[in-house]
Amino acid sequence: METTLIILKPDAVQRGLMGRIISRFEDKGLQVVGAKFMQISDELAATHYADHREKPFYPGLVGFMTSSPVLVLALRGNGAIAVCRSMMGATFGFKADAGTIRGDFGVSSSFNLIHGSDSPEAAARELGLFFNDGEVLDWSPAGACWVYDMSSGSPE
Ligand code: RTP
Ligand code: MG
Repeated sequence: METTLIILKPDAVQRGLMGRIISRFEDKGLQVVGAKFMQISDELAATHYADHREKPFYPGLVGFMTSSPVLVLALRGNGAIAVCRSMMGATFGFKADAGTIRGDFGVSSSFNLIHGSDSPEAAARELGLFFNDGEVLDWSPAGACWVYDMSSGSPE
């Protein structure tokens, strides 16, 4: 099982899309194991997007991410990191495939609704940035035995 860090960005919150986006992940069978509605500080945005510090879009990116509250989620499931990236679609809505979150809910070449960790290393780093010890909860969804084949003793 993998756990990934998802951020519903300021445009998703302001446009009232949180519920519909979360529903897509729940419908897929992914498990919410952490959730936090918060205002990202300049410092946290800078740490989170440190890899992009030299890029021309960096100041705008930090300004966008700190412009309004966000909803941060920890989602768990089989291959959750790649599954979520695939459900998000290409970086910007005007290019993202229909059927993806960015492709279905946005058309901007700047605002793009959602962030998702892009590797296990990024997920571990980002989960540590946004969640304190004890804020990601291990719990057993009642329907897990119908989301996964548990006959071998582990989820398949
Ligand atoms: P994210 O990290 O937010 O999940 O998005 P991503 O992997 O699809 O895209 P990435 O290349 O990591 O870029 C991070 C965020 O920077 C903004 N961006 N702007 N104007 C531009 O050319 C540009 N390129 C990237 C986007 O908000 C993107 O999500
Ligand atoms: Mg990225």
